Amino acid sequence: MAQMNLLYDHLSQTLYFPLMSFCNLIVGYKCLSTVSCVEKTVPAIGASGIILYKSKTYNSNETAIIVPNLEDLLVIAANKAANLIICFPYGIKNLPQEVLPCLESYNKFILWFGNDEPDWDSARHVAKKLDNKRCLFIRPTDLQPRPKIASDLGYNLKEIIRNAQPIWHKSITTFRSLRQDILSDLQNIDKVQGVKWIRYPALNKILKGHRRGEFTVLTGPTGSGKTTFMSEYSLDLAIQGVNTLWGSFEIKNSRLARTMLQQMIGVPLDENLEKFNVYADEFEKLPIFFMTFHGQQSIKLVMEAVEHATYMHDIAHVIIDNVQFMMGTLDESKFTDRFWKQDQIISAFRTFATKFNCHVSLVIHPRKEKEDGELTTSSIFGGVKASQEADNILIVQDKRLTNIHGKKYLQPRIVIVVILEL
Ligand SMILES: Nc1ncnc2c1ncn2[C@@H]1O[C@H](COP(=O)(O)OP(=O)(O)OP(=O)(O)O)[C@@H](O)[C@H]1O
Ligand SMILES: [Mg+2]
Repeated sequence: MAQMNLLYDHLSQTLYFPLMSFCNLIVGYKCLSTVSCVEKTVPAIGASGIILYKSKTYNSNETAIIVPNLEDLLVIAANKAANLIICFPYGIKNLPQEVLPCLESYNKFILWFGNDEPDWDSARHVAKKLDNKRCLFIRPTDLQPRPKIASDLGYNLKEIIRNAQPIWHKSITTFRSLRQDILSDLQNIDKVQGVKWIRYPALNKILKGHRRGEFTVLTGPTGSGKTTFMSEYSLDLAIQGVNTLWGSFEIKNSRLARTMLQQMIGVPLDENLEKFNVYADEFEKLPIFFMTFHGQQSIKLVMEAVEHATYMHDIAHVIIDNVQFMMGTLDESKFTDRFWKQDQIISAFRTFATKFNCHVSLVIHPRKEKEDGELTTSSIFGGVKASQEADNILIVQDKRLTNIHGKKYLQPRIVIVVILEL
């Protein structure tokens, strides 16, 4: 491995892989423990380099294989299956903008990621950034798992690389490329279900996890805990590596972040102030970004920021809390205008979710708040548009106002979240 300038620390039994910047400087390390096989990146955020393996016979027109982690890189190198192999500093879910110049000089990439839906999503996202025309894919089927697994199963790595295929044109496809997708869907039935919540097993049962490209509406009476719930719900996903963008139009970012920090640590923050820095350092590593908007904003401006962030930070979940605050409370008298305006916002986010393959969660106030009744989809302010367009509808019912015990499902895709009494 002389080609990689690897270092080995005998004491900690750790291999150090240098992160090379655009101008060939070492800007950090990826450390691989030879005991636990755990990978760690130094610095923990903001590294602007890649791990690069070039064999002795490498030439400058070579196709670069991009793999999810060091184990995969080492396996391909050891099998001499490719001459040029690349690992990103923070896995494949996140391709920081600063890293792009390092990849500029290569003509072609083969993306060989894992065999599940999140990895496949990442592959499509990475290809978009690197330019689809430069990218070929190893389709995620059972006979083509990620390099380490393929090698363990005795598969021919060179053969798999030869089998890489281009991404389809964005508006034209053939059955030849679809058949691979169909097969990988069938072979990954439990995996296409999305990222599962750690804290909400009931949601996993109904929604089968959080998937990219979907549109979720959360509604419920004033003060029923929508913001608090959405905060913990999104934190749960962010802890599992879902890159998240928060648009808090209602409460200040510092207050929201404090709630999330509190939810992350699970013990009273004000009674554990001496550990604040430890907690804050841990929180800082989470892939959560906050939009700095507050109060009324034009949908155009918000969409620009959202699209920019999605591109720059590979956002997979956007949250808007809440639509009414974003619209502002002016024009109170013109109800038809407000309905129309809200429908515009819903359409814009629906289109964005599909086009950018990003999940959008909108918090919307209900139309009317009955003192004693349960809310249904028709209670969503603005009416049909939100419920028609949404893939999932979550309604927070305040248990203190209703007589529901436990969860109740109106339709398979509608979940009633019942707030528990303290
Ligand atoms: N699960 C819960 N148990 C007890 N209290 C809660 C729970 N969730 C939220 N709360 C409390 O209820 C209050 C209102 O919560 P929150 O602001 O999240 O509601 P909301 O639905 O977003 O309100 P609004 O309609 O004003 O936006 C807060 O003081 C919060 O701390
Ligand atoms: Mg709120």
